[in-house]
Amino acid sequence: VNKLLIYTKDGKKMKIAVPGTGYVGLVTGVCLASKGHKVTCVDVDENKVKKMQRGESPIYEPGLPELMKESMENLIFTTDYKSAYQDADVIFIGVGTPEKYDGSANLTYVFQVAKQIAQTAEKHCVVVLKSTVPIGTNDKIESYIHNKQVNDVKIYVASNPEFLSQGTAVHDTLHASRIVIGVTEEYPADVLKQVYENFDAPKLVVERRSAEMIKYASNDFLALKISYINEIANLCETVGADIEEVTAGMGFDERIGHRFLKSGIGYGGSCFPKDTKALNWFANFNDNELRTIKAAIEVNENQKFKLVKKAKKYYNDFLFLNVAILGCTFKPGTDDLREAPSLVNIPILMEDGAYIRVWDPVGQENFKKCFPEKIQYCSCIEDAIAGADLCLILTEWGEVKEFDIKKYEELMKHPIVLDGRNCYNLSDFANTRITYDSIGRRTVNPDLYIEK
Ligand code: UGA
Repeated sequence: VNKLLIYTKDGKKMKIAVPGTGYVGLVTGVCLASKGHKVTCVDVDENKVKKMQRGESPIYEPGLPELMKESMENLIFTTDYKSAYQDADVIFIGVGTPEKYDGSANLTYVFQVAKQIAQTAEKHCVVVLKSTVPIGTNDKIESYIHNKQVNDVKIYVASNPEFLSQGTAVHDTLHASRIVIGVTEEYPADVLKQVYENFDAPKLVVERRSAEMIKYASNDFLALKISYINEIANLCETVGADIEEVTAGMGFDERIGHRFLKSGIGYGGSCFPKDTKALNWFANFNDNELRTIKAAIEVNENQKFKLVKKAKKYYNDFLFLNVAILGCTFKPGTDDLREAPSLVNIPILMEDGAYIRVWDPVGQENFKKCFPEKIQYCSCIEDAIAGADLCLILTEWGEVKEFDIKKYEELMKHPIVLDGRNCYNLSDFANTRITYDSIGRRTVNPDLYIEK
C-alpha cells in the first residue's frame, strides 16, 4: 500500500470518521478535530445530529461544548455513514458495548458499524476500535470486514482503547496517561502514531489482544482497588479506625498512591460495573476463574446499600418519613445515572413509604425520566432538606461539600445526615446536634435521634 495515500494535502491531517457520539466517540472526534484533523461524527439519532450541527453537545461534559465550538470548522455531524466512511483514512468506532443479561458484552452495534464500513469503504483505511471489547474481538471484526467488503481496498483493524473518565473526558483525551495502539502489523501503527502526533502522551504499540486486555485489566484493577478500600472502610467502622486517616497513610506509599482509594457507597457508571462483569464472564467462558474480580463485584453490590442499612439504625421503618437525597448521578461532573446507587436506594425507601425529595445540580432531568412520579425535585439543597427526617448524600457534588453544615441543624426536622461519600470532616459536627454517619469513620452524635 502506498503510505502517501493516507495523507491529505495539508500534510499529516487526516480524514477521520467516528461512528457513535456518546462519551467516547464524541469526545474523541472533537479532540481530534481540535488538533486539525477533518472529522465526521456519525450517529443514527437524527435529533442528536441536528443538535450537534448547531454546535451543541448532546451530553453533559465540562469543556466539551467550548472545544466543539472552537473546532466546528473541522467537524461534520451526519447520519449518512456512507459519506463518512467511503473516503475516510481512519475510522474510530466508539459505539456502546452494553452489558447483556448474562454479564457478557453486547457487540451488536460494533458489528453493525463493521458491516457498514465493509459495504462503503472505497479507499485503504484503518478501522480503530475504541469501544471496550472482549479479547479477540478485533480479530473477529477484521475477518468479518474482509468477508463482507465490497471494494478491493485494504482495510486494517487496530485496537486503541479509551481511558477517559466522564467529567474530565476532554482533559483525559488531550492529556492522556498513555495511548495504547494494538496492531498485528506495522502500517496501522504508523498511521495511528501520525493521528496522535500532536498529543503529548506516551505511545505504546502492542499486540492487538494485549491492547484489548490492557483496557479491561486497567478498569477492573481500579474497581478492585475501590472494593478493597470499601471493605477496609467497613472494617474500620467496626474496629474504631478512621478510613480517611488510613488511606492518607497508605497513599504516601508510591506503590499504592492516593488515587482511587476513596471509600463510599460503591462504584457506578457505565464502565466499572460492566467491565468487571464482562471480564469475569469472559474468563469463565475460557475456563479461567477471576476470583479477585468476582469479589470486587460482590463487595460493590453490597456497598451500594450501605446507607439504607445505616438508616435502619435510626428508624425502624421509613413510613411517612421525609428523606432528602443529595446527588443522584454515579459521580459528580456528569448527568449520567448508569449504575448509580440512587437508582437502587430510592426505590427501597419509596416502597417502604418514605417521601423523597431529590436535589442534583445536573442529574435531575435524567432522574425524572426514570422516576416521573412521587418524587419532589428541588432546585437547591436547602429545599431538599427542609423538614426532613433523614438526609442521604449519594454524590459528592461541590455544592454539597461546600454547604454550610449548620443548615442541616436549622432546617431538618431530625438532622440525621448519612454521608455515602465522606464529604465533611468529623470535627465540623462536634458542637452541633447533627447525627453525622459516614463511611468507615465513627459516627458523630450517634444516639441523638435513635428511636428507642
Ligand atoms: C472509568 C475509568 O476511570 C476510566 O479510566 C475509563 O476510561 C472509563 O471508566 C471507561 O472505561 O470508559 P468513569 O466510569 O467515567 O471512568 O468514572 P470514575 O471516575 O472512574 O468513577 C467510577 C466510579 O467509581 C464512580 O461511581 C466513583 O464514585 C467511584 N469511585 C472512584 C470511588 O468510589 N472511589 C474512588 O476512589 C474513585
